[in-house]
Amino acid sequence: MEKVKKEKQPGLLDKIVSLTKRRGFVFQGSEIYGGFAGTYDWGPLGVALRRNVVEQWTHSMQMHDNIALLDSSIFTAAKVWEASGHVTGFSDPLVVCNACHTKFRADHLLEVIGVVADEKMTEARINEVFDENRPKLHCPVCGKKDFGRVTAKSLLATSTLGKFEEEDKEVYLRGETAQGIFINYKNVLDSGFYSIPFGIAQVGKAFRNEISPRQFLFRKREFEQMEMQYFVSPEEAPVAYEEWRKERMAYYETLGIKEGKLRWKQHENLVFYAKDAWDIQYEYPFGWSELEGVHYRGDYDLGQHQKFSGVDLSFYDEDTKRRYIPHVIETSVGVDRTILMLLVDAYDEDEMNGEKRVILRFKPNMAPVKAAVFPLLKNKSELVAKAREIYTNLKKEIPQIMWDDNGNIGKRYRRQDEIGTPYCITVDFDTLENDSVTVRDRDSGEQERISIQELNSFLSDKIKAS
Ligand code: GAP
Repeated sequence: MEKVKKEKQPGLLDKIVSLTKRRGFVFQGSEIYGGFAGTYDWGPLGVALRRNVVEQWTHSMQMHDNIALLDSSIFTAAKVWEASGHVTGFSDPLVVCNACHTKFRADHLLEVIGVVADEKMTEARINEVFDENRPKLHCPVCGKKDFGRVTAKSLLATSTLGKFEEEDKEVYLRGETAQGIFINYKNVLDSGFYSIPFGIAQVGKAFRNEISPRQFLFRKREFEQMEMQYFVSPEEAPVAYEEWRKERMAYYETLGIKEGKLRWKQHENLVFYAKDAWDIQYEYPFGWSELEGVHYRGDYDLGQHQKFSGVDLSFYDEDTKRRYIPHVIETSVGVDRTILMLLVDAYDEDEMNGEKRVILRFKPNMAPVKAAVFPLLKNKSELVAKAREIYTNLKKEIPQIMWDDNGNIGKRYRRQDEIGTPYCITVDFDTLENDSVTVRDRDSGEQERISIQELNSFLSDKIKAS
């Protein structure tokens, strides 16, 4: 869970927020109206980065022949959330200052005075901890020591749907994509292509009425999850759980995350649905925090949906002649937290040819732009025409190619370094003579001459090898 933490790398988050806005990765939601807390909009480079993240994750799931893909609705029957336990059990500990009426998360206030609380604690337990520490707790806004009782505030976001306003029903926006998977588990099983053990993987939006959305992309009210539920027999579940934990940690190598920046953390207080739960944490600028959860959910969810819907969700195992409700191993990671991690991990400042530069050292497979094509001079029509031809041909095979003819070459390099483009291709006068171009490597700044014919395979190999 998120804690109030001092920044380990002071200023880094601000630098990333400013770079991503300046270069068109991420914008504050509803910015021209003063912003809308907990929402962010993806700009052109953010969309490209997001797609890379989703594709990489989906590909890792599709490497298993027993994992099916799903895309379920955001609007689901209210019963789904009653059955899942979210209506009563999915909340944050809210406390209000009696003097200035500002609302806070109780665990965040406790964290400021060094008391570790947990959002998964029961309401009674967090009240006990809060009461023990009342004399030390000041309101961060008005400074008074006058807080009310801690109450559980539902995280489910609501909306209304219906034919006539007076009959409109309050509905929930999904708080996790997982429930869409549980309620479709039987449909996928009955399609005839899968049998226990098998998994269902889904990428989609989730919504939470967070009391204090913050830390940029880390805690949003509207965010995207990449979740996989693996349905397995109770006996095989513990082994499958270990295998999935191993696989999920190994996965982050494919994203090029620096060594030592990821670690495991077991949950001390289990959320209502879990039998066991571990987080993969990343060392964000504000400290070690949850990137992904790998949970053992037992038969809780299918059992609840069977009870509430009356539909038989058990599985008959022909081999063992036994009927049971499958157990579930869940892997759940946010697209937004993955992107924040990629930005933090890739951000660097160095000096090249006596000039300071900001650089995003994305692995080429993750970079939103794979290569930029420049004509050496913008006003030489032969160079521009040749560069355009190369650009168009490359783009047919590798769509994430950018055209850049703005400013001198040095400025173009710096701009591309700042967005993490691994290769810059310059078309110069030699190109017109011998059909070769210079390819400049982002990290070393070194240039090599490559024939136009080989460019496509050169870039594809580099991206694949990364
Ligand atoms: N289905 C299980 C589940 O939803 P969770 O730990 O509440 O578990 C899973 O969320 C993942 O979703 C987290 O590890 C995180 O990556 C992402 N996530 C959760 N809340 C988020 C928020 N408010 N903003 C951005 N990402 C969030």
